[in-house]
Amino acid sequence: MKSRQIESELDILLQKAIGVREHAYAPFSKYRVGAAIMTKSGAVFAGCNVENATYGATICAERGAIMQMIAAGEREPVAAAVATSDGASPCGICRQVFAEFTSNMPIVLVNLNDETGTVVELADLLPLAFHR
Ligand code: THU
Repeated sequence: MKSRQIESELDILLQKAIGVREHAYAPFSKYRVGAAIMTKSGAVFAGCNVENATYGATICAERGAIMQMIAAGEREPVAAAVATSDGASPCGICRQVFAEFTSNMPIVLVNLNDETGTVVELADLLPLAFHR
């Protein structure tokens, strides 16, 4: 794939992640997260964090996007974006859930505070992922 094409796909993803973050339900932490995943077919799936009064039942944005992808019948993510106020990277559980469906993909970490986007690789975020 041409690098220009990859750039424009990552751009679509980060815009989607920024947009869906507005729907985050985060009354407890006040920390909103938006995530978007593109699959091999070019479809994009979005998710935001949904917190719960029990705290433990909270669902991260990244896993929300993965659930949307699977429910739509898609299983091959090729790129993702995560938008937060500070450019945070996905938590360990979300990394492992990503790794269920791909061994590697670029993930854009969008920092809305300084308006930067850093591209990291899933394989670097989760070396020696658990597989069976
Ligand atoms: N959160 C995510 O949505 N994704 C992550 O990868 C890390 C944390 C959410 C969970 C909770 O609603 C808030 O961020 C603070 O931890």
